[in-house]
Amino acid sequence: MKIYFATSNPWKYREIKEKFNNAGLDLGRINTQLLELQDVTNEEVALISARDAFKKFKKPLFVEDSGIYIKALKGFPGLYSSFIFKAIGLKGILKLMENKKNRQAEFISVIVYKDSKQEKVFKGICRGSITNKIRGRGGFGFDPIFVPKGYNTTFAENYAIKEKISHRVKSVNKLIKWLKNGKQKQKSKRSK
Ligand code: IMP
Repeated sequence: MKIYFATSNPWKYREIKEKFNNAGLDLGRINTQLLELQDVTNEEVALISARDAFKKFKKPLFVEDSGIYIKALKGFPGLYSSFIFKAIGLKGILKLMENKKNRQAEFISVIVYKDSKQEKVFKGICRGSITNKIRGRGGFGFDPIFVPKGYNTTFAENYAIKEKISHRVKSVNKLIKWLKNGKQKQKSKRSK
């Protein structure tokens, strides 16, 4: 029986095809661009997490997935923010940003709410820039190297600002507004 190796990479195909030939097996190729984890967005990650958590706990719940996207690094570390933070830290990011003129970056926070009837996505973005050195001790993660647009201090230097304008504040405000609206609708239905 002929089987197929689905790949856009002819080199990989050639290497594996030879192995199959040697083993007397028939291999064909489907030349296609595969969906890879690196193409996945915060929304997709949060949806998968929310569905999985709801399957396990069967309670109304929400999850949050976030990351920082640096323009000069083509969006890196993005989806891999937590892993990259552990692997190379703030110093590693600043090293990659050495001599980069464009310092623009944005934090993205996606909340997915799920219950037995509905699934809803809420997104918050906070734009800003990457500093040249580590500044401040507050917050977590990339807070000491991120200055939000319109300010001069990092999130770590001025945590009070973060609590007003962060990506997470924006996504959570949207969730709360929606939850409150839902409750109002339920109330008005009951009172009819
Ligand atoms: P995850 O949502 O668990 O995948 O983790 C996202 C990662 O992005 C965190 O571990 C941090 O490294 C980074 N990150 C997300 N939000 C923030 C923030 O508000 N400040 C600093 N770093 C953040």
